[in-house]
Amino acid sequence: MATTKARDDGHAPAVRGGGMARAFYRFAYRAGRPRWDAEGPHPALVSLVGARTPGRALDLGCGTGADASFLAAQGWQVVGVDFAPEAINEARARQRPGTPAPTYVVGDVTQLRSLGVEGPFELVIDVGCYHGIAAGRRDAYATEVAAVTCAGADLFIAGIAHPPATWRLLGARGLDPSDVIRRFGSHFDLVGQEEMQGVGRHARFVLLHLVRRADQDGGPDAGG
Ligand SMILES: C[S@@+](CC[C@H](N)C(=O)[O-])C[C@H]1O[C@@H](n2cnc3c(N)ncnc32)[C@H](O)[C@@H]1O
Repeated sequence: MATTKARDDGHAPAVRGGGMARAFYRFAYRAGRPRWDAEGPHPALVSLVGARTPGRALDLGCGTGADASFLAAQGWQVVGVDFAPEAINEARARQRPGTPAPTYVVGDVTQLRSLGVEGPFELVIDVGCYHGIAAGRRDAYATEVAAVTCAGADLFIAGIAHPPATWRLLGARGLDPSDVIRRFGSHFDLVGQEEMQGVGRHARFVLLHLVRRADQDGGPDAGG
């Protein structure tokens, strides 16, 4: 099955949803290089996926594509989704000619299937996206991720446990394992939790590892 039916023709489609948070991220990318925007992939990701057999991977809130293009270079078939067209344009611009490129999709991660992102994916990563998703959109995020992953898929979510007050004004609720279990627990098991070092200026980044269970009702299965 195709990983995505979304078009990756370099044009930014109209994006539904996101409100203030999207406006904030678009402004941040237009204003220059945001402080979270690293040169290369996150070291934690490099060690996490290093020994895995490449398959289909999804980077949610991929920003300028450092992690997505690292995975593509490792042989993964990668889709990166971000609702800031400025970030996706920069990701495409940074892609080195002749290297395997991810498919980039401009859109909201809480609307994956309506963006044409289908999977099934064996690996999903989210560095700094879910922690900023408003409470009212988190169940939609979990539903969409469950719909595009196969049994046994790994989902890594990294974020700040307690976002600053200014973020909370934009709807950010942080990354809390009990919130994640409540929202993802019908399809995923939480199998790991650790502090993630070397991300931005924030010492308290948490990295959660979840694994997709098989559906009882004949939903997406391993290997898709
Ligand atoms: C803190 S940045 C991290 C970017 C990238 N993962 C990295 O580590 O450099 C969060 C990213 O998530 C994107 N984002 C936040 N909420 C989103 C949503 N609902 N749908 C799509 N992208 C979103 C933002 O545009 C931004 O690029």
